[in-house]
Amino acid sequence: MGLHVPLRGKALKPVAPPFAPALDPARVVLGDWWKDEDLPVAWDRILPGGPLHLEVGFGGGEFLLRRALADPGGRYVGVDHFAEGHRRLLQAAGERGLSNVLSAVGDAFVAVNLLFADGSLESCTVNFPDPWPKARHARRRLFQEEFFRIAARKLRPGGRLYLATDDRPYALQAAEEWPKVPLLESTHPEVPWLEASPHPFTTRYEERWRTQGRPLHYFVLARRRDAPREV
Ligand SMILES: C[S@@+](CC[C@H](N)C(=O)[O-])C[C@H]1O[C@@H](n2cnc3c(N)ncnc32)[C@H](O)[C@@H]1O
Repeated sequence: MGLHVPLRGKALKPVAPPFAPALDPARVVLGDWWKDEDLPVAWDRILPGGPLHLEVGFGGGEFLLRRALADPGGRYVGVDHFAEGHRRLLQAAGERGLSNVLSAVGDAFVAVNLLFADGSLESCTVNFPDPWPKARHARRRLFQEEFFRIAARKLRPGGRLYLATDDRPYALQAAEEWPKVPLLESTHPEVPWLEASPHPFTTRYEERWRTQGRPLHYFVLARRRDAPREV
């Protein structure tokens, strides 16, 4: 079925998502499909498959698509408040016939908390989020205790939280904030962050920063297996 749904005044190209047949396709195209669902979303019903991986702030979706293509048995879900990125991801996934990828448009602090059951994620990845350097924008930063607490709760015990940034002050903030969450531990306790990517795939921003020779910072955190249930 082809869909022409206006989004911010623009006509979308026809999209025939081969995924999530249980959902209203018009709402899938708009990215707010999850507002029609009982929450947390019943992922096993709408995107059946293997381990559930989340990418927050997937931008143009290149990294998410690469992972979904390489791992047809896994499920790859993106959350971003950028609706155009969602549209591009749907288009690219539809063209490739991918049935293991889906995204939702929404603010990460709210959407991640609502969409996923506690303990349901195999991994959560946040690549090169905007560092919001001005003090008056600090509450928008993803690398802060509140977001780490939400993400940690959503991971299964042993599940991974991957972070990446090109911005040194933001890496320092991440290094200060994540240890405030008792559910999390580092997989590289000897160093605050890694200088080499732990992933076999790159992101669009990563490619840009590499071309410019910027030092990059990666964190691989894990939800502790032995942690007491957090309040
Ligand atoms: C600098 S881009 C990086 C995109 C991609 N991860 C990459 O590395 O190419 C940051 C992305 O995070 C998204 N983002 C930032 N804060 C967010 C929030 N609170 N909720 C959802 N998405 C957010 C932006 O919309 C944008 O797409």
